[in-house]
Amino acid sequence: MVTMCGITACVGREQTADDLLTGLQNLEYRGYDSAGVALQNGDGVTVCKREGEVSSLCEALSTTQAGGDIGIGHTRWSTHGPPSDANAHPHTDCTGQVAVVHNGIIENHGDLRSELTARGHKLTSETDTEVVPHLLAEYLAETDSTIAAFRKTLRRLDGSYALAVVVEGEDAVYAARAGSPLVLGIGEDSHFLSSDVPAFLEFTDRVIYLEDSDVAVVRDDGYEITDLAGDSVDRSETTVDWVPEDARKGEHDHFMHKEIHEQPTALRQAVRGRVDPDAGDVSLDEFGVDSFAGVEDVQFVACGTSYHAALYGAQLLTDRGIRATAHLASEFVVNPPPATEGTLVVGVTQSGETADTLAALRDAASRDVRTLAVTNVVSSTAARECDDALFIRAGPEIGVAATKTFSSQVVTLACLGTLLSESITDRKGRAEEDNLYTALHALPDAVDTILGQTATPNVARRFRESESHFFIGRHTAHAVALEGALKLKEISYEHAEGFPAGELKHGPLALVTERTPVFAIATGRNDEKLRSNVEEVRARSAPVIAVASPESPVADVADEVLAIPETHPDLAGILANVQLQLYSYHVAALLDRPIDKPRNLAKSVTVE
Ligand code: G6P
Repeated sequence: MVTMCGITACVGREQTADDLLTGLQNLEYRGYDSAGVALQNGDGVTVCKREGEVSSLCEALSTTQAGGDIGIGHTRWSTHGPPSDANAHPHTDCTGQVAVVHNGIIENHGDLRSELTARGHKLTSETDTEVVPHLLAEYLAETDSTIAAFRKTLRRLDGSYALAVVVEGEDAVYAARAGSPLVLGIGEDSHFLSSDVPAFLEFTDRVIYLEDSDVAVVRDDGYEITDLAGDSVDRSETTVDWVPEDARKGEHDHFMHKEIHEQPTALRQAVRGRVDPDAGDVSLDEFGVDSFAGVEDVQFVACGTSYHAALYGAQLLTDRGIRATAHLASEFVVNPPPATEGTLVVGVTQSGETADTLAALRDAASRDVRTLAVTNVVSSTAARECDDALFIRAGPEIGVAATKTFSSQVVTLACLGTLLSESITDRKGRAEEDNLYTALHALPDAVDTILGQTATPNVARRFRESESHFFIGRHTAHAVALEGALKLKEISYEHAEGFPAGELKHGPLALVTERTPVFAIATGRNDEKLRSNVEEVRARSAPVIAVASPESPVADVADEVLAIPETHPDLAGILANVQLQLYSYHVAALLDRPIDKPRNLAKSVTVE
């Protein structure tokens, strides 16, 4: 069984169980099939775990007396086998003296399981993780040193892990990372561990990002970080500039709603200090004037929403005379396009942890191709492993369906495109002539206008019962059509597809009826051609919703208009996408779907 999950731990808190649950709730975007905690006090280790969301665990814990000031917790997203109480973490050894939470994959768990079973161990779950507490218990029996036994256990594991372990009678949490994220939080007289900062953001903003092969022993009054051989390693402490409110819904019913409404702020952050409309200039601190000398073609790799942002970005680069293509990361790995010395592979990834994207970037690096990560998470694996990193500065995104990060990715790629074009094509000024810089600065206000006036609640009421939804657009709006359809599928579970508008007549038109609303996304470029495609669907009685400026010819022939303010055509797709995010949100809300935690999905998919 392979899992990707969220782990958390705390030492030195009075309400350990409550603090672990807070952490797990803030990590649920990483999975919500089952959850569990282990608490350690003078009487031993107590485990409580349940199938289902963290709320089920909260109920279970409220009826137990579990206490202790050292604890670990886990929330899980399973890829093989059913979620169940037995498969939920923490896992323990035969005697219950060791409890372990794990994010990653122990690849040699089959061999280890056979070995342990032959020596009399009784394993009770189908998970790869369960071998860890059993191995550790064996090694503990052979030595007086828990850390030595822990290191010996780690040396037996192949694969990837972030692990947190409690051991009966010990006043510490033992932790290690190899290939899965793990962050140490430093509080007053207390310490935390987690897969991601939001888990403990309520308690501290001082963090250390652990690195692969790090082994940590964390107590209430301090911590030690060593390598697998036991030698001390120095990791610097940083302060995150997120605030606890970032991890809370506040006045919003859902994180997705909150994050849609955070887009004006996120967009301001994305361009701050980077775009100067007065000087007609784009500059990125991460890169100098000659940073991209020698780059001849750009290959984007990404998954899900980030792939749609990459597709959008590739179009913007192509417009600027740069050879650019967008690839689904999982396909890139099995069929990598040819690369030359001048190739730059750009991984677009909100989390910086998506396994498919990391695999594509590693494939490029193994062929000596230069890599760049465009990501939201400064400490992420993609940011660390790539030759360069460019940050989208969107702030934490918790809702599983990506919203604000799409907008921030596109704007960041627009800036990157301008810089690349100056360097590659030696052509300065196109964007300036087109007032792109001014439009970038005006974009947050345009998003605010949409948020204040959107007609999506009414349009959602009208079309929520449809047989299917189609989204069409040309050029950058093709990427937005794909993203609009993905968002609707993800959170409403309704069938939806996105197409390049011109392609509809070559097949999908056969599906178009009066029960299939068609959303036509107009950017101000190619609107006349798009209008012809709209006429084709109207002739088949399909209702048409224009996502367009009210001045667009497409709006004239539509049944409904989701209006977008006038802007630069390069950016109109971002505004159209905000309307489509709101449409999906309202449909899902009317259908009473679990918007922030859609079934079967997780925000950060760390398995290939
Ligand atoms: C998952 C999420 C998607 C996301 C994709 C890529 O599938 O459910 O919302 O777009 O991963 O994530 P990344 O962090 O690489 O952007």
